[in-house]
Amino acid sequence: MTDWKNPPKLFIPGPVHVLPEVLQQMARPTLGHRLKEYSQLHGEVAEMLKKILYTNQHIFLSTSSASGIWEASIRNCVQKDETVLCCMCGAFSDKFASVAKACGRKVEEFKIEWGQAFTAEMIDEKLATGKYPIVTLVYNETSTGLANPVYEISKMMKEKYPDVLVFVDVVSGVVGLPLHFDELGWDVAFASVQKAFAIPPGFAIAAVSNRAVEKSATVPERGYYFDFQQFVKTAAKDQTPTTPSIPHIMALHYKCNMLLEEGMENVWKRHEQLANYVRGWGKENGFELFPQAGYESNTLTAFKNTRGIDVAAVNKGLQEKHNIVFGNGYGKLKNETFRIAHMGDVTIDDLKELLGWIEEEIN
Ligand SMILES: Cc1ncc(COP(=O)(O)O)c(C=O)c1O
Repeated sequence: MTDWKNPPKLFIPGPVHVLPEVLQQMARPTLGHRLKEYSQLHGEVAEMLKKILYTNQHIFLSTSSASGIWEASIRNCVQKDETVLCCMCGAFSDKFASVAKACGRKVEEFKIEWGQAFTAEMIDEKLATGKYPIVTLVYNETSTGLANPVYEISKMMKEKYPDVLVFVDVVSGVVGLPLHFDELGWDVAFASVQKAFAIPPGFAIAAVSNRAVEKSATVPERGYYFDFQQFVKTAAKDQTPTTPSIPHIMALHYKCNMLLEEGMENVWKRHEQLANYVRGWGKENGFELFPQAGYESNTLTAFKNTRGIDVAAVNKGLQEKHNIVFGNGYGKLKNETFRIAHMGDVTIDDLKELLGWIEEEIN
């Protein structure tokens, strides 16, 4: 029997398995968050994140999950009379629109079928109406295993709509997929750390553009906990507005060092290799890919359950025999799809073992 003290190894699309040495970072002696030792830690993490996200603008460290930054982006940077164009192609991009509505903002729901990708042409057509000063996008749709072509979309937007603000949820894409924040011309990009950073959940990071910060100063009722103005003010001292989860920041410091030592190009390539391996396994074993061809994610693979396996029963068998789990389909895609996460510190050997055990259960 597994319990919370002896949990299964995680191959769900977050939280993912955490290396013991990363966990150990979280047990370091605590720091005073207004003392110089903390500022040193914070400053070093922010500098490393700038390199990882390819930005010279603002980095915020947020003691929240990523959902907090969904809300922060809207509350800080959208006026009440502006309409946000929310590009919806799966559960999480759908939720981004729900958050904007919950914050009392006007939303244009731009819905396409789950598993389909947004192209630059599709977004161009909407923006040509001139009605939308803000666009929300999800880079990597965790619910469908799809990566939107954000480089093409951003290139088009920079050329044709340079004044439109772009908020991108990069929660399950960051670190696993290329991301050059400044070159892409984005305004807010954010992620929680339990995905490809492979750190325990409960913390998020954001890159925010100078113009988004400037705009936030003009938006009333930004709220308290996620006020960008307070983040900027305290970041100038390498601090956060409120007491942060310092153990998470210690783990992030360790992880950022690991990533930069490996080199981001290599990290992205490694994720691509893991994805290719999993896709190849699916092909050999009679499972089609769920997302639109050409837009498959490199951090997780969503398979159509073409063989009609009992996903929950397979997972139960894996858990009982090997103490390991993979992801069922998300929401309405439960049992119709299943998802294998290959982000963070997962190796080909880990995947070989997992997929071999899945084969034993289904054959
Ligand atoms: C794409 C995406 N966006 C947002 C979230 C919400 O993140 P959090 O649970 O860290 O708030 C998730 C969680 O899985 C996600 O996959």
